[in-house]
Amino acid sequence: MVIKQTEAWGTRVGLILAMAGNAVGLGNFLRFPVQAVNNGGGAFIIPYLVCFLLMGIPLLWIEWSMGRYGGRSGNHSTPFILDNMTKRAFWKYFGVFGIFTNIAVAAYYCYIESWTMSYVWHSLQGTFVGLSQTEVAQFFTNYVDIGQSSTGIPYEAVVFYIACLALNTFILSRGLRGVERAAQIGMPLLILFGAFLAFKGLTLGTSGATAEVPDASAWDGLNFLWTPQYDSLANPKVWLAAAGQIFFTLSVGMGTIHCYAAYVRSKDDIALNALTSGFTNEFVEVVLGSLIVVPIAAGYLGMDWVKENAGFGMAFQTMPFLFEKWGPVLSTMAGVMWFGLLFFAGITSSLAMGTPWMGFMRDEFGWGRNKGAITFGLVVLALGLPTVFFFQYGVFDEYDYWAGTVSLVVFALAETILFAWIFGVHRGWDELKRGADIELPVIYRPIIKYVTPAMLSVVFLGSLFTPVGNEWQDAFASLFAGNGWQLDDSSLVNMVANTGLNKQIAAAIDVEQLQQLKDRKFYTNMARALLSLTFLGLCALVYVAGLRRARNEQNTTNA
Ligand code: PHE
Repeated sequence: MVIKQTEAWGTRVGLILAMAGNAVGLGNFLRFPVQAVNNGGGAFIIPYLVCFLLMGIPLLWIEWSMGRYGGRSGNHSTPFILDNMTKRAFWKYFGVFGIFTNIAVAAYYCYIESWTMSYVWHSLQGTFVGLSQTEVAQFFTNYVDIGQSSTGIPYEAVVFYIACLALNTFILSRGLRGVERAAQIGMPLLILFGAFLAFKGLTLGTSGATAEVPDASAWDGLNFLWTPQYDSLANPKVWLAAAGQIFFTLSVGMGTIHCYAAYVRSKDDIALNALTSGFTNEFVEVVLGSLIVVPIAAGYLGMDWVKENAGFGMAFQTMPFLFEKWGPVLSTMAGVMWFGLLFFAGITSSLAMGTPWMGFMRDEFGWGRNKGAITFGLVVLALGLPTVFFFQYGVFDEYDYWAGTVSLVVFALAETILFAWIFGVHRGWDELKRGADIELPVIYRPIIKYVTPAMLSVVFLGSLFTPVGNEWQDAFASLFAGNGWQLDDSSLVNMVANTGLNKQIAAAIDVEQLQQLKDRKFYTNMARALLSLTFLGLCALVYVAGLRRARNEQNTTNA
């Protein structure tokens, strides 16, 4: 095979910033605090850190190694990175996940990213000045109810979504340089803005208490998150949530890390780089991510309110209202900083999602950057518009579940088995060590071989067969008592069968509700059909690419 001359990262700092930018995303600021609060605060942190050490770090090292290894023979996306590591042809179809997930996640991720753009604009415009808490929350509800937007811009959400995709496409068309540049600007600003808001969160204390909420205290928020509770260690529900967060936040199981690492020169370090970007992500998540939304909201509205209302809407529905309490200048600044930091977090991640597709089309079909970037933008637009228009009907959640949750685990499990057992942990470890700037802790060798795949299998089985109410002790008790295992509607098995929705439909109390639920089911199925078509389309491309490679090889041998 002819190895094409390809791009490489400009500088080490650029690479680390780009990788950190890839990992640091909306997940750090919107998903982490919500997961932590919903899983008992201090009860969440220990499983979370254990998952980071036993799944996160191993997966980072696996993916960086696979990526650089693939890049050496001219492969920049997972189908042929995987293919290159085994003799069996089917592995490349597992590699399809590494392109599919990115496109599907980008479709809804860029939608949130576009909200942040719009909210920066509205903070500057003073849209939230003088609004009550309900009005600020209503603003968001109207915003996502397309056609309802109350701001004078018709179809505002669609306009910003398209603008956001256009910006992503433009930067991607500049190639790695564009990505590197975006990270060099975005990451420092993000940290700066984050540090300012975290400082506010840390120093708010009880100063936000009012006659209505006399016990409001930012300390309650911090204590809730940071008082460890050991009893949760026995609760699989918390472990599953912690594992899911580790995946999403580190961008592992996605294919983006492989792709970025494929552009690392073959003798450059990956071991230390992987750790540096991983720890940067954890710093931003655990420190900055926990010092903003939760303490600020608890400081004004009380911790009970936060527990009841934890959801990612908090960031958009509540924060702009709370900032208003800081006076006109500071509130505008805080709004711009908060939504600006979310925007930078988002865009440095969504750019990463574009690169596997571009790398694949370039490797296999010789597509240039512009063509790669524009087609990415268009495919994401086609897949994303349903999330925008039918947000209310759960299309967004459906994408998040299948692409942003299930696919990550499936792919991570597959690649770990490939790396540790088929490619072989010896070769894998040697690959990781090549050019390493640190002494690798040898304990990670058996971890990669046994612990990580075991944990991933448990996570996968746990999601497949989640018991009713996510109550594992009860479920095992029932199983051993001979009463079987009752699945929860959120288990993968029941999700596939739409069990929950069907039950709701059967129990609908009036025609109107029935119609609503039926609509929901229709859009849910439509979302699944779109995702499946995307996956199958990518499989077809990989199949064609495989044929082309075989033909080329034959030509070279004949010649
Ligand atoms: N890690 C990103 C976040 O925390 C999400 C992401 C997933 C980015 C996959 C790139 C690829 O938001």
